[in-house]
Amino acid sequence: MNKKIENAFNKQINAELYSSYLYLAMSAWLESKNFKGMAHWMRAQAGEEQNHARKFYDFIHDRGGRVKLAAIDAPPTDWTSPAAAFKEAYKHECKISAMIHGLVDLAVKEKDHPASNFLQWFVSEQVEEEAHASEIAEKLSLIGDSRGPIFMIDAELGKRGG
Ligand code: FEO
Repeated sequence: MNKKIENAFNKQINAELYSSYLYLAMSAWLESKNFKGMAHWMRAQAGEEQNHARKFYDFIHDRGGRVKLAAIDAPPTDWTSPAAAFKEAYKHECKISAMIHGLVDLAVKEKDHPASNFLQWFVSEQVEEEAHASEIAEKLSLIGDSRGPIFMIDAELGKRGG
């Protein structure tokens, strides 16, 4: 396997696992504030991020490369409001999208067609990830401090599958 791609994909495994850790931390904070539906949504998102990490893990092995796991940074533990947490999730997804686009650029530069093809799934996935987090963050910021509508959104997010 191309060593530059292998190193970059190993870094992406770490970024996806950090994403999982970040969303689990948000889930724990939301749970502590009794926003059980939002906590459920974030916990499901944390699970999705683990799947993303596993996709890179499997691809590296399929290409005969070597997976090397590094330490995962500690995420924050507190947020000022559910809106702040979802806004941060949205910003984080934009950062992850930029990383994925950087990987696509690298794969093209290295003429690694299997890697380019593999990454296309992530390019599409990031469009959805950004859209979901942004929609929830915007709804919550429009609502402000009104408890009733916040709990309505909480109930809606609690229905998320996965
Ligand atoms: Fe794996 Fe939410 O990006």
